[in-house]
Amino acid sequence: MKVEGRPTRTIWLDDDGWSVGILDQTKLPFRLERISLKTLEDAARAIADMEVRGAPLIGVTAAYGVALAMRTDASDPALKEVLRVLLATRPTAVNLRWALEDMAARLEPLAPGERMAAAYARAAAIADEDVAQNEAIGRHGLPLIEAARQRKGAAPVNVLTHCNAGWLATVDWGTALAPIYMAHDAGIPVHVWVDETRPRNQGAGLTAWELGQHGVPYTVIVDNAGGHLMQQGEVDLCIVGTDRTTGGGDVCNKIGTYLKALAAFDNGVPFYVALPGTTIDWRMEEGVGHIPIEERDAAEVATVTGSNPKGEPATVRLLPEGGRVKNVAFDVTPARLVTGLITERGIAKPSRVGLEALYPEHRAPREKTG
Ligand code: MRU
Repeated sequence: MKVEGRPTRTIWLDDDGWSVGILDQTKLPFRLERISLKTLEDAARAIADMEVRGAPLIGVTAAYGVALAMRTDASDPALKEVLRVLLATRPTAVNLRWALEDMAARLEPLAPGERMAAAYARAAAIADEDVAQNEAIGRHGLPLIEAARQRKGAAPVNVLTHCNAGWLATVDWGTALAPIYMAHDAGIPVHVWVDETRPRNQGAGLTAWELGQHGVPYTVIVDNAGGHLMQQGEVDLCIVGTDRTTGGGDVCNKIGTYLKALAAFDNGVPFYVALPGTTIDWRMEEGVGHIPIEERDAAEVATVTGSNPKGEPATVRLLPEGGRVKNVAFDVTPARLVTGLITERGIAKPSRVGLEALYPEHRAPREKTG
């Protein structure tokens, strides 16, 4: 995607050839600041404190975190500890586990002296694969927007999205936003309803910012507005991302996604989820009660951070002193509320059978009958 008019990725190798550059997403949309990650601790902090966030980007950052760690100690015990530290940074996005297991499988058989170069090479390859997968998600999702356009004539197609599942959540393109960017680039009039996504405001701060950078028209709405807009016929389709989708098609995503899916179901609005195969947890069938749901600091709910009239960051308190808070970061939308899963291999029905048809390598061996 373009930032200040220039094609940019969200993670890169710095000019020294070994430190890892990221955009500090905690500063957006007010400041565009780059950070250089130089150690395992830097990478772990970047993920835990959400300087990087979004399931695919968390996975890529973790892979580079392994590479950074291998610079100082590539022994067997050190590798084991690195994987443990990174896996503990955030519990819900399954791309983190996927990337770390992938790195472990490639590095463990190697001699310690070979591990650093192999880790950098694999981290770069995972980043490139993410870009290719998101581009393919965009191609598979584009016909949904084209079809809505056919139905509507000249009026813009209105897509509702929740949280940020765009370029900033990945290495490039995004998942849910990839079809939207492609439609916009193809000249289809598309307008995005952006849920603000309390408490961290990934919609208002990040999705709005990146859509604006690319010139896609959008309107930010409060998290509770979507149902009303759907009743008024102002939403043609919903597209959201996911942090973990089970092999059975249940979708875990940012808190509030489930309520949007219920409203979409009640109003006959198609509800699509965009994801790369690395976000599928093949070991899990049902999401509700099984996917670990991250609970974050109460301060994220008790306060809100923005920019004051001087353009300086400012945090203000919203709650009465001592007010109790529960800050659950994700929820699970059951497969029955999902119209389809837009993957890099095509659109799957949200079920084990639907997903296995696109990913036959994950088909569980069936017992022979008769
Ligand atoms: O807590 P975050 O910002 O890392 O969560 C990200 C999301 O939940 C996004 O909505 C996204 O869909 C998943 S990543 C493409």
